[in-house]
Amino acid sequence: MKLFLDTADIAEIEEAASWGILAGVTTNPTLYARAGGTLSEFPAHIKRICEIVDGPVSAETVSLVRDEIISEGERLAAIDPRVVVKVPTMPEGLAATKRLAELNVRVNMTLCFTVPQAILAARAGAAYVSPFVGRFDDISEDGIAQLAQVVQAVSNYDFGHDVEVIAASIRSANHVTQAALMGVDIATVPFKILEQCVKHPLTDRGIESFLSDWEKVKNS
Ligand code: G3P
Repeated sequence: MKLFLDTADIAEIEEAASWGILAGVTTNPTLYARAGGTLSEFPAHIKRICEIVDGPVSAETVSLVRDEIISEGERLAAIDPRVVVKVPTMPEGLAATKRLAELNVRVNMTLCFTVPQAILAARAGAAYVSPFVGRFDDISEDGIAQLAQVVQAVSNYDFGHDVEVIAASIRSANHVTQAALMGVDIATVPFKILEQCVKHPLTDRGIESFLSDWEKVKNS
């Protein structure tokens, strides 16, 4: 499973990239706002992320009408070859995805919750389909079970182009575990969750005891 970082925070991206595990980045309007981004700086910000990450960088469209989504997608794709255009799952989004795919612009279809939505996204030409796990849990559904169904359904067919499933809205290290066990292509995780994935109390306890025993060696 490849790991993407779900953030627009440059410091977080630089840190994760330095660990040698970063295969891509996904952003969305909320994450960009959280990183203190402004409208005028958006293209430069996405370009900066592309310079750090050796992999696809998703930048999201905010238009709701197909022609505007297509223009916006073309503008985003022109920022850098690494840019993948994120488009919400909706009829206008499907139509825009079809056209963007014809223009060789890769689309990450986002806000995808169900198997039918994922199949439609893949059929329309999306290179990536992003089922949301945590937001399904938020409404007392089982986000991991829904993700498993999407992974299974997408793997059942040849769409005539590569389609990778990105487990999104990841809220815990256990979500990462479950995604990896079901063989999902990619998990996009917030930096906080990436840190949780590295840490374990037994690892911390082990480091502590090794260091304390090494003090004995040094003083021997
Ligand atoms: O990038 C989209 C998705 O990962 C958002 O996650 O936590 O806002 O539901 P969340």
